[in-house]
Amino acid sequence: MKPHIFFDARAMRLHLLDQRLLPNEQKYFVCANVDDVVYAIKNMVVRGAPAIGVTAAWGCVLAAANAPDGSIWRDKVEADLNRLASSRPTAVNLVWAIKKMRGLFNNRDLPDHLQQKWLAAASEIENEDRHICQAIGKNGESLIQDGDTILTHCNAGALATAGYGTALGIIRAAWDAGKKVSVIADETRPLLQGARLTAFELSEDGIPVQIACDNACATLLSQGRVNLVIAGADRVAANGDTANKIGTFGVAIIAKYFNVPFYIACPLSTIDISCPNGASIPIEERGEEEVTIMAGKRIAPTGVGACNFAFDVTPAPLISGIVTEYGILRAPFEKSIAMAIRGAAGA
Ligand code: MRU
Repeated sequence: MKPHIFFDARAMRLHLLDQRLLPNEQKYFVCANVDDVVYAIKNMVVRGAPAIGVTAAWGCVLAAANAPDGSIWRDKVEADLNRLASSRPTAVNLVWAIKKMRGLFNNRDLPDHLQQKWLAAASEIENEDRHICQAIGKNGESLIQDGDTILTHCNAGALATAGYGTALGIIRAAWDAGKKVSVIADETRPLLQGARLTAFELSEDGIPVQIACDNACATLLSQGRVNLVIAGADRVAANGDTANKIGTFGVAIIAKYFNVPFYIACPLSTIDISCPNGASIPIEERGEEEVTIMAGKRIAPTGVGACNFAFDVTPAPLISGIVTEYGILRAPFEKSIAMAIRGAAGA
């Protein structure tokens, strides 16, 4: 797959593969300033927790590059960072990346100097994310046996990260280790990240994939057609409760009922220990037209609205383990999460 996030440092332009158009068209959306980046994140040109973190880091570079002359430049850059941070509420990687960038911004900086520092930092965040996904893949690969069928929900693949993916990173690692696996991708209403994006990237890699309607999950698991479920995460609370794409919670309940292991895959940057549990994770609600209109056509009677929660929270007791770059975390999650975060910080 071509790189889907690409920063041209000469022209100071961020190129994002427009995920709204996949799989039918591969076109780049070009961002010249923070307005463009905020638009791209809000409107899901780019989506997926780590990918929007990386994109926001490049957005900071564009904020410095477009800083106005005069003493107001710092306030303008700060305001741009705040706009980036609030472009979507649930995935914590967005604020995580901006916090990292903001930490490098000090009183002595001039715009040019800040731009150079942020260029290096954004590039590091992007490269690190790719390496972390590979480590997640390596750590989770042993969960998959030769011949397994894995069900996944939404897209937690290369397109949702800087590359390789979290849930799909584990599947890629198993495939690369010679295991003959196949994947069932839930189509993921309303924006069809499973049907459009997960199926796209797996089929590009030659990994067998079928899509299934979201509501087929119980039937598939009751027939023993799925050995393992792996999903990504947008934010994991300190107790292991996990926010991910709407519908993940239902899949986890069904997996528990049929004794199918249910794993979450995410980098440690997706864990937010300032949220004690799932109830404190902000859940994005999106426009009802995403539900009532399909492929440009209204599918509900005029005047009928829709509730459109973009995410739900899977309670920790339904989760068999959380695969991170630091290893597979298991219950009790308060303890394993705290240990992993301390360990990664070298404490
Ligand atoms: O609304 P989206 O498409 O940004 O939601 C994405 C998800 O829920 C992914 O599963 C999650 O971000 C994990 S990405 C590795």
